[in-house]
Amino acid sequence: MKNILVTGGAGFIGSHVVRRFVRNYPEYHIVNLDVLTYAGNLSNLSDIENAPNYSFVRADITDAAAMQTIFAKYQFDGVIHLAAESHVDRSIANPMEFIMTNIVGTVVLLNAAREIWKDNMEGKRFYHVSTDEVYGSLGETGYFTEETRYDPHSPYSSSKASSDHLVRAYHDTYGLPIVISNCSNNYGSYQFPEKLIPLAINNIHQGKNIPVYGKGENIRDWLFVEDHAVAIDVIYHSGKNGDTYNVGGHNEWKNIDLIHVLCKIMDRKLDRAEGTSAGLITYVKDRAGHDLRYAIDSGKLQRELGWNPSLQFEEGLERTVDWYLDNQKWMDEVTTGDYKNYYERQYQLR
Ligand code: NAD
Ligand code: DAU
Repeated sequence: MKNILVTGGAGFIGSHVVRRFVRNYPEYHIVNLDVLTYAGNLSNLSDIENAPNYSFVRADITDAAAMQTIFAKYQFDGVIHLAAESHVDRSIANPMEFIMTNIVGTVVLLNAAREIWKDNMEGKRFYHVSTDEVYGSLGETGYFTEETRYDPHSPYSSSKASSDHLVRAYHDTYGLPIVISNCSNNYGSYQFPEKLIPLAINNIHQGKNIPVYGKGENIRDWLFVEDHAVAIDVIYHSGKNGDTYNVGGHNEWKNIDLIHVLCKIMDRKLDRAEGTSAGLITYVKDRAGHDLRYAIDSGKLQRELGWNPSLQFEEGLERTVDWYLDNQKWMDEVTTGDYKNYYERQYQLR
């Protein structure tokens, strides 16, 4: 049985990756390593927590001694690294946590992998899951390709860019077998309601304002999270050693247009008169350094590894709304305590 480490498996994307690997690969023992920050939630995995090929380890990826011990114990065949501080607004308020987890934590993992694989790297793989934000911001035209120059603007994207460079450096310097993917905005179930879509769904449901930064004209390229998990599966198994793959939905939306679609769906689901939810839209102070547009060219992944997004956006959004409305208990649990403090700090003065 192969031991595969997934870091950050209790988070949004990580939980979908863990679920997919545990269900589809009984020949793998999946070790989910997560320190359980505010964004990590073991109830995201309650459906597979008792599976015989799944274990959870609570640990911090910046703790080098702990990582050495865990890597020595499990002798991992592969690492799928998702653990990160992931929210841009939090990185603007508190950059240091992003430097520690996203940069230092990644190097600690690279060192631990290098140590156990130093005598034989055959068949091993360190997969670093990254973001399209490393490429910076596009104007009205063009797409990010794997050749686009890195130009990050926020502390979050800069820390992810730095970690990407370090992962490549360990490949070029030490021959570590790595692969990287850079993905666009994900949406779907289990996303923490600090991110636009679940925050808006939750606020609409509660009749609270929907905060739209600036004029709502920023553009994001949205991908259903389960399609990202499929891409991670395909890249983990078939990606070329040392290569990078862009992952995206070919699905660009202006924030304000997306919010209007969401409002219509919510009015229908909640039996409210059309236009009720849109009445909650409130324009607030813009995000500092707000990137205008992200759009991914995922042609390489489609051509070389045969991956394609499976869902149309409206269908994905509808499924996402249904999931949040059916899982109010999950939402209530993650929005108690510190979430309220965060929300006040983030939105009070806007
Ligand atoms: P998330 O914030 O939902 O989850 C992050 C997880 O990492 C949490 O479970 C948290 O507890 C864990 N974690 C944080 N610091 C840790 C530490 N020091 N040690 C161990 N565990 C720690 O994030 P997400 O949205 O699921 O993103 C996962 C990865 O995918 C990140 O690397 C992110 O940069 C990347 N990514 C995200 C998106 C997106 O749209 N959400 C898009 C592209 C790439
Ligand atoms: O592109 C991939 C990235 O997508 C990931 O690397 C990040 O981890 C993930 O958080 C996401 O980053 P964004 O900053 O694009 O996502 P967010 O949901 O925070 O914001 C989406 C857009 O909506 C962005 O233009 C800012 C805007 N926004 C966001 C919030 C939270 C608002 O207008 N109001 C809000 O309250």
